[in-house]
Amino acid sequence: MPDLFAQLEVAWYASATEQKCQAVDELIPCYLDLCLGHLPEIAGRQVPDCAEIGRPAQPICVPPESLPFRKAIDREGRAALLHAIAHIEFNAINLALDAAWRFKALGMLFVRDWIGVAIEESYHFKLIEARLHDLAYAYGDLPAHTGLWNLANETAQDVLARMALVPRLMEARGLDALPPIFRAFQGIGDKPTLRALSVIARDEVRHVALGDLWFRKLCASENLPVSDTYQSLIVGYDVPRPRPPLNEAARSAAGFDTAELDLLCGR
Ligand SMILES: [Fe+2]
Ligand SMILES: [Fe+2]
Repeated sequence: MPDLFAQLEVAWYASATEQKCQAVDELIPCYLDLCLGHLPEIAGRQVPDCAEIGRPAQPICVPPESLPFRKAIDREGRAALLHAIAHIEFNAINLALDAAWRFKALGMLFVRDWIGVAIEESYHFKLIEARLHDLAYAYGDLPAHTGLWNLANETAQDVLARMALVPRLMEARGLDALPPIFRAFQGIGDKPTLRALSVIARDEVRHVALGDLWFRKLCASENLPVSDTYQSLIVGYDVPRPRPPLNEAARSAAGFDTAELDLLCGR
């Protein structure tokens, strides 16, 4: 097997988008080996501070409240929406690479799962970037929001919090956001974007499911109740709670049970 951890490190540090996606693609042979059950020893050095992860100089990042709300009715609005999705996907690549490397002590199955997510996020980024190019825009042309990576920083010492607040909270909020985005692009008959979004929707349910699986495993290993621990981490890290309407079908497919969905919906 090629040196998985050395390649993971290269992908983690890569800053230009093309370089990042290429380095992630180079993890695919290692990922296939892991999927076939070849689990090497955990190796490699300690992960640097989250601030050092590779990301491009553009877009400039601003607080979410200073970004204008855009509807996909004209070319600019459509590009703004696609740019926001591209930003989420790029951050999602970094979040998955960081989880795989930073928390490798959890074992090679954990590393395998998050490398697999990074590979899919890179594909999502490229799908959305291609749609931006069709509209004569590029990732980095517009400002983007700061929130996503901050949470990685805050949970760098705590894998339980990372699994709860990144895949099981932020990515699950992405599932809630997908139906209105689908409707917006359906309303303007943008079939190529709808095709890209359908790939993303399919994969994102699995990403949340992996977050749910690992969060549950970690809770079980410490004898912690799943739903109460999740609620107290949301409060403890001062992260906005999921706001109904939730995409209950997708969340349920990703592992949220009825009692927890009722609680999150305030029923
Ligand atoms: Fe994604
Ligand atoms: Fe994802």
